[in-house]
Amino acid sequence: MTILDGKKVSNEIKDEIAAEVQQMKNRGEKVPHLAAIIVGNDGASLTYVNSKVKACERVGFESTLVKLSSTISETELLKKIKELNENPDIDGFIVQLPLPEQIDTQKVLLSVNPDKDVDGFHPTNFGKMALDMSSFIPATPFGIIELLERYNVETKGKHTVVIGRSHIVGRPMSILMGRKGFPGNSTVTVTHSYTKNITQITSQADIIITALGNPEFLKAEMVKDDVVIIDVGITRVPDETKPRGYRITGDVDFENVSKKASFITPVPGGVGPMTIAMLLKNTLLARENHRL
Ligand code: GUN
Repeated sequence: MTILDGKKVSNEIKDEIAAEVQQMKNRGEKVPHLAAIIVGNDGASLTYVNSKVKACERVGFESTLVKLSSTISETELLKKIKELNENPDIDGFIVQLPLPEQIDTQKVLLSVNPDKDVDGFHPTNFGKMALDMSSFIPATPFGIIELLERYNVETKGKHTVVIGRSHIVGRPMSILMGRKGFPGNSTVTVTHSYTKNITQITSQADIIITALGNPEFLKAEMVKDDVVIIDVGITRVPDETKPRGYRITGDVDFENVSKKASFITPVPGGVGPMTIAMLLKNTLLARENHRL
């Protein structure tokens, strides 16, 4: 069994990006500049955005954090986005989700210039991805693809089961695994909350990608020997024995499933760290005007 070590690989990717930034500096070029808009004071969202800013520092990017009140109007937020769209110094930006109730998330995502949409959430980028055209790929799916590639996990002709159909992970992952090329060329089944007898499906899977947010949902009895497991779940489970009063748990019963798996991502330290590395990668691509 091989652990797909996202922490290690994400550090390698950040080192590669830092080296490219250093070369840009040596040539006297402008370094990539990522901006993030955060609306309100949600603890988890603030933690994520702060990690993104810190990651920018680590690789030598410039970063701008735009903090807005939770009571901001949709019009005001759209105005901020327009400013970032038009600011030539900003190569890419993200709007941290979720947004407060008074704001229409779809309208916000549609207002981001697709050329600066380093989250890959704009329908233009999503559509291009589905059509095998070059585009920004959302950071978490991009991170999973990168992990599979760097560990040379065979995906061709395999049966991949994706659990969850979210716009951020499940849906794009199902598209990417079925695309031509590597990693891809899988036969993909997407399961969700209305799927009947999920064990019948997971037990036929060569590769399982879970993005459910249901701690330790996937048990050893639900998988076959030598399965490849990609666990995207990150749930805070109350745990008095931990300093913060909680532990981070994935969708997979790691202790038992790992005994049957050929490859498996741990939580934490698997897919999570890859996400930020790939956001940086997308920002570098935006700076260079390249797409995947
Ligand atoms: N909220 C949860 N995941 C993400 C993400 O990848 N990007 C943004 N902008 N918000 C999120």
